[in-house]
Amino acid sequence: AISRVIAREIIDSRGNPTVEVDVELRDGSLGRAAVPSGASTGAREAVELRDGDAARFHGKGVRRAVDAVNESIADAVIGLDAEDQAAVDHTMIELDGTDTKARLGANALLGVSLATAKAAAAAHRLPLYRYLGGVDARLLPVPMMNIVNGGAHADNPLDFQEFMIAPIGAANFAEAVRMGSEVFHTLRRDLLDAGHNVNVGDEGGFAPELRTADEALEHVVRAIERSGYKPGTDLTLVMDPAGSEFFRDGVYDYRGEGVRRTPAEHADHLAGLVDRYPVASLEDPMAEDDHEGWAALTARLGERCQLTGDDVFCTSETLLRAGIRDGIANSVLVKVNQIGTLTETLATVSTAHRAGYTVVMSHRSGETEDTTIADLAVATGCGQIKTGSLSRSDRTAKYNQLVRIEEELGSQARYAGREALGLRR
Ligand code: PGA
Ligand code: ZN
Repeated sequence: AISRVIAREIIDSRGNPTVEVDVELRDGSLGRAAVPSGASTGAREAVELRDGDAARFHGKGVRRAVDAVNESIADAVIGLDAEDQAAVDHTMIELDGTDTKARLGANALLGVSLATAKAAAAAHRLPLYRYLGGVDARLLPVPMMNIVNGGAHADNPLDFQEFMIAPIGAANFAEAVRMGSEVFHTLRRDLLDAGHNVNVGDEGGFAPELRTADEALEHVVRAIERSGYKPGTDLTLVMDPAGSEFFRDGVYDYRGEGVRRTPAEHADHLAGLVDRYPVASLEDPMAEDDHEGWAALTARLGERCQLTGDDVFCTSETLLRAGIRDGIANSVLVKVNQIGTLTETLATVSTAHRAGYTVVMSHRSGETEDTTIADLAVATGCGQIKTGSLSRSDRTAKYNQLVRIEEELGSQARYAGREALGLRR
């Protein structure tokens, strides 16, 4: 049973405060979890409670969420069985009493939720992926590595937020990391040779002064080739335009490019990119409010491309069900802090899998050294993880954890490979 719950204010990869929680059990087992934070958040995400006190951390302090854990949540969950994750999570949801977790804060709830699972795993002397996923948890995910950053994650003109590589042709996870790292360094050299700076954005990818998606994709394809790999076969391309971020007054406003595109023109542009480059997956191609555009693009590209809903679903089982009904996307991005508890996260994954939607476990642009999502990717067997570039420890910590998991599984381990993306071509 849970005997102690302690929260504290720590800082994340952007130097902003976030919540860390320790959960201790009566037998002395300890679980610790830190909460991530997004920059290009969906409008319907669970509420991240911030103090708004301008005198501390420019208003971004999380003392209220920390107090919510140390005062009300601790009282409510102490004595509960840590193995009964659903009971712990539902106790917190009821205590909060809002639909959006706005009273106590999703950051407060999530810290306790994840730390509880980790404490229970420790009590069983099991790694988290095995505790949650059982003996079948042996599928290592394909990593989506974000090597060019734009949009809200970088101070450059790129309208699209993320340009990723996914080593679908790797023999195993460790090889996928090697391939990704090689391409990352080849790209660095290539950008320098072209006169660009190689400073990195929030997720550790380069943030060069490029204007168009074509320019970024050309650089990435060339880096794959110059590393000795075949684009589309060894490593495929993935983009997260983060459509909600530049959808204004019914049009897609490409400010970096200096072009406005209607939803139909925007869809044509995306389809053109998929024709010209080996892009196997698009995340948030359309804005969260552009349901019509989303459904049209799914009908048009859904057979040849993984279309992953991030802002449009916000890891909410309810929003995902509506999307499945309306023919929106064929894949869901899963971010634990968008929904706020592990129980609800796992429910969304199950609903997706039952509907034949693929699942991508994901970090946030604001991260910490916490590696829980690496274990969740293996526990759920979802086959894909998106956790940033091949630089910055907040990103590589997750890749390194997966290398350890693969080693621990030994001959049991399987690498998800190209089938994970539901690739038909
Ligand atoms: P965020 O970005 O964490 O800033 O929301 C990641 C994404 O859009 O996938
Ligand atoms: Zn996204």
